Amino acid sequence: MILPKYFDDRAKMLDRVLDQYLTPETEEPKDLYAAMRYSVFSGGKRLRPILFYATYEMLVKKATEHQMEQASLIAAALEMVHTASLIHDDLPSVDNSDERRGKESCHVKFGSATAILAGDALLTKAFEMITKLEDPRKAVHCIRVLCNLVSTQGMIGGQTVDIISSSKQNIPITVIKYVHLKKTGALLEAASHLACVMADADENTTNNMVNYAQNLGLAYQIIDDILDDIGDFEMLGKEPYEDARNFKSTYPSILGLDKARQTAEKLISDSSKLIKNLPNNHILIEFVKMIKDRLP
Ligand code: IPE
Ligand code: IPE
Ligand code: MG
Ligand code: MG
Ligand code: MG
Repeated sequence: MILPKYFDDRAKMLDRVLDQYLTPETEEPKDLYAAMRYSVFSGGKRLRPILFYATYEMLVKKATEHQMEQASLIAAALEMVHTASLIHDDLPSVDNSDERRGKESCHVKFGSATAILAGDALLTKAFEMITKLEDPRKAVHCIRVLCNLVSTQGMIGGQTVDIISSSKQNIPITVIKYVHLKKTGALLEAASHLACVMADADENTTNNMVNYAQNLGLAYQIIDDILDDIGDFEMLGKEPYEDARNFKSTYPSILGLDKARQTAEKLISDSSKLIKNLPNNHILIEFVKMIKDRLP
C-alpha cells in the first residue's frame, strides 16, 4: 500500500506547520491557545490537507521543497477551518456532542465561551495563513475560493440548513443533498480547488478536480450518517446515534440503509472515473479507496 506511508508523511508535514504557527499555550490568553491546540492536535485524520497535497503533487508532478512549504500554508489553513467547524458543530446549541475523536469535545473541556472563541480564532487564523503566501495574487485568489466555500453559500450555509431542517418532517432528499454538499463537500472541494490554484491548473482540470471532490464529499457524509445510524463507535471515534438524537433527516433515515449505501457507492465510482485517466493519479485513487473502505 502506498497510501499509508503517503498519509503518514504528509500528516507529519502538516503537523509541523500547525505546531509552528499555532501560539503555544504558555502565552496569554492561555485558555484560548490551549483550546485551539487541544482541538487541532486531538487525532483528526487530516483528510482535507491530504487531499490537497495529493492533488497539488499530482498536478505539479515533482514539487520542490520550497513549493511544498508554500503549499503547507494552505494545507494548514484547511485543517484550521475544519477544526473550527467541528468545535462549533459539537456545541450544546448545535449538535450537543460531548465527545470528539474519542476525547472530550472542546466545550466540555474548556467551556462553551472559550470553545466558541477558539473556533472563531482558528477560522481567522486560517485566512492569516494564506496571507503568508509569497505570491500576493495567488493569496487573494486562494482567499476568494476559500471564502466562497466556507461562508453563507458554503460550509456555514450547509450547517445552517442542517440545523433549521432538524426536527422537521418530510425533508426532501434534494435538501439533504444540498446540506451534505455544503456542510461537508465544500471543504473537500476547497482542498481540491486550492490545489488547482496553487498548481496554476487550467479551467478544465479545475472543474474536473472540483467534481471529483464534490462526489467524494457527498459520499463521505452519507457514509458518516450510515456509521452513525448503525452505531459504529470505533469508526466514528465518538458516541453514535447523534443524528437520531437530534432528529436529523439523513440518507439512511429517509432512503433506508441499502439505498443509502448504493448512493454512496455510485458517488465513489463516479469520482474514480473522473480521475482514472489522469497521469500520476495513484494517490488520488488510493484516497477514493480509503473513503470506500469506511462504508460498512
Ligand atoms: C468529521 O470529519 C465531520 C464530517 C464531515 C463527517 P472527519 O471524519 O474528517 O473528522 P476528523 O478530522 O478525522 O476527526
Ligand atoms: C459535520 O457534520 C459537518 C461539519 C462540522 C461542517 P456532522 O455533524 O454529521 O459531523 P459529526 O458526525 O459531528 O462528525
Ligand atoms: Mg452537525
Ligand atoms: Mg455533529
Ligand atoms: Mg455525523
